[in-house]
Amino acid sequence: MRRNKIVHLLAAETPIPDVVVKGWVRTRRDARDFSFIEVNDGSCLKNLQVIADADTENYEDVKKLTTGAAIAVHGELIASKGGGQKWEVKAGRVAIIGEAPENYPLQKKRHTDEFLRAIAHLRPRTNKYGAAFRIRSELSHAIHGFFRERGFTYVHTPILTGSDCEGAGELFRVTTLDPINPPRRDTGVDFAEDFFGRETNLTVSGQLEAEMFALALGDVYTFGPTFRAENSNTRRHAAEFWMIEPEMAFCDLSGNMDLAESLMREVVRQVMDNRADDIELFAKFVDKNLTRTLENTVNSDYVRLPYREAVEILNKSKHKFEYEISFGKDLQAEHERYLTEVHFKRPVILFDYPKTIKPFYMRVNDDGETVAAMDVLVPSIGEIIGGSQREERLEVLERRMAETGMDPSRYWWYLDSRRYGSAPHSGFGLGFERLMMLVTGITNIRDVIPFPRTPKNIEF
Ligand code: 4AD
Ligand code: MG
Repeated sequence: MRRNKIVHLLAAETPIPDVVVKGWVRTRRDARDFSFIEVNDGSCLKNLQVIADADTENYEDVKKLTTGAAIAVHGELIASKGGGQKWEVKAGRVAIIGEAPENYPLQKKRHTDEFLRAIAHLRPRTNKYGAAFRIRSELSHAIHGFFRERGFTYVHTPILTGSDCEGAGELFRVTTLDPINPPRRDTGVDFAEDFFGRETNLTVSGQLEAEMFALALGDVYTFGPTFRAENSNTRRHAAEFWMIEPEMAFCDLSGNMDLAESLMREVVRQVMDNRADDIELFAKFVDKNLTRTLENTVNSDYVRLPYREAVEILNKSKHKFEYEISFGKDLQAEHERYLTEVHFKRPVILFDYPKTIKPFYMRVNDDGETVAAMDVLVPSIGEIIGGSQREERLEVLERRMAETGMDPSRYWWYLDSRRYGSAPHSGFGLGFERLMMLVTGITNIRDVIPFPRTPKNIEF
């Protein structure tokens, strides 16, 4: 069946005698001899104004239409006589496809984000969330386009895995064993009887597998869901989130930072260009500084600063932090935000972190104390990217695995890549939801994910 999208109709050059619009009633307003219906079909932020009157076939039904109802309008696209819009549709017939009774939860008033989280199945029907999820889609396309233009190969890394890339132990276990009565050995549950014959979890990162492909195909990237059982109920952590992980062979840390910076700039620029109307909604109603933040992300040179110097800056600052910082400690969100929001007022790339706070796979620097790590920090969010040059030297890697308590027999295949044709290589992980937060000014990660998963929250 034919259907004209509102986004296309609103861009029309000339009137169109015969159109079919299908969407949902946002509001209806009655005048003496006619009804105005605002219809939205999700193709863009704007509604289409439909005018029904006594000439409309089923005008009596139209007068009963309520907010939320699904309708099909057959009519004519004409220049609007009223102000506020260029085009409107004069309805010849309005078919009611699905009624919405009076208790439809989304009424015209502004609802709180908390309320809308509780009805996540309906929230994409609001202006704000419709806009957010169109931006999310555009951002995904921009990312794929960015890599494609540069000749990167897109790799699908597994979601089910036996490894713990980050070594942080924040794993969701996957099992088919009976939780009430699992098979046992003296040491505990006998995972030999489990589906995969050993302990299995959801991936926390596709990096280790992506490295294998970088050492074969050169420049690769992954873009998929990752899972972390971090029990931190913060506004920037989710249990299920998407990560973009490029990995480049024959690339050092500085090339890695160059890629991170270009990626951030270009995808943000593309979303500003292609979803300007949706971005404008956020700039108006969600974050008054959004335009400045986005211009800053796209136009400024990112600061590049060794971790050690960042710690000095933080210690010299007069700012009162909740957590103390000294060499060897991980930066907290408050430190990250101070550096990027207050001190430098632009994105900051910190590098050369102490090896004691970073995973086994990062390349050990000549000082023996730091690793070639880098984090990109942005205003209001803090860390948005984490990455490194990888340890390509077999003996050093084995030593680091031992130091960090990794079982090398599990990672024999990873170690193999350092035995055969090993080469310097680098990569990073960009948190897709954090990028969404940056682009929209939305401050809670739960509001940039269609159906967010956080501690004690698996509804929908
Ligand atoms: O810094 P992380 O842990 O790095 C890695 O996973 C590396 N294996 C990436 C790589 O080098 N290929 O995570 C990368 C990014 C973070 O900077 C953050 O933006 C995001 O992923 N992230 C989360 N986003 C939402 N919820 C969480 N729980 C997140 N944990 C990390
Ligand atoms: Mg990190």
